[in-house]
Amino acid sequence: MLRVEDLTVSYGSVVALDGVSFAVERQGVLHGIIGPNGAGKSTLMDAITGRRKPTRGRVWVDGVDITERSVEWRRRHGMSRSFQRTSIFPGLTVREQLELVASQLGEPDLAHIVDAFELRHVYDKPADVIAYGDQRRVDIALAMIGKPRLMLLDEPAAGLSTAETIALFEHLVVLVRERGVTALVVEHDVDAVFRFCDAVTALDLGRLLITDSPARVRSDERVVSAYLGTAA
Ligand SMILES: Nc1ncnc2c1ncn2[C@@H]1O[C@H](COP(=O)(O)OP(=O)(O)O)[C@@H](O)[C@H]1O
Ligand SMILES: [Mg+2]
Repeated sequence: MLRVEDLTVSYGSVVALDGVSFAVERQGVLHGIIGPNGAGKSTLMDAITGRRKPTRGRVWVDGVDITERSVEWRRRHGMSRSFQRTSIFPGLTVREQLELVASQLGEPDLAHIVDAFELRHVYDKPADVIAYGDQRRVDIALAMIGKPRLMLLDEPAAGLSTAETIALFEHLVVLVRERGVTALVVEHDVDAVFRFCDAVTALDLGRLLITDSPARVRSDERVVSAYLGTAA
């Protein structure tokens, strides 16, 4: 359903992403992106969402070449992303924010998202005063509204404890399956990635190391020496 081919992004003389190709075959899967700092993970996400124009290469979704499409076009055609912020308008409650976005995007089942992310206990509180872990789940809930087909999450668990990260992935994996959303997730906690993701892409220095099952990626020599060996 998603295919990137020879995707390359240069910032002046820095090649942040260098000829990366991989595919996500099915709907309703969690696909992890791992790699050391500066590997090009965020640049890859930005090239797929259209925030960053690739220097070279193509992006296809459901067989359609979307490389030249705008961010807005992609959003209208089922691509969403998280923003690592929870206040669209300061002072609005969690309920008001979610309901606002749900009415804009025509979400038929907001209650399902709210329940799946366990947001009832903060529903009528201003989004900027709730606990940080709850804010992260609101952020992903916002990206889940409107039945996107493809969701891009860049470090959704940043700043969370290991236990909170596991809880967040547990919520995410349920919604991804139930709603048939495919999610691309950049995540530093490789244990969470290997436990919850259906497939994993590993990057290093802008290049693709491997795209495969969690078990194969975990034991891949290049991944171990580029990342896992030094991550601990
Ligand atoms: N706006 C930018 N201008 C110049 N260089 C950038 C910019 N954004 C990222 N880079 C460089 O591109 C490379 C990849 O960055 P990034 O995609 O943010 O990596 P990651 O998300 O894996 O940590 C790094 O070398 C980084 O310094
Ligand atoms: Mg990044």
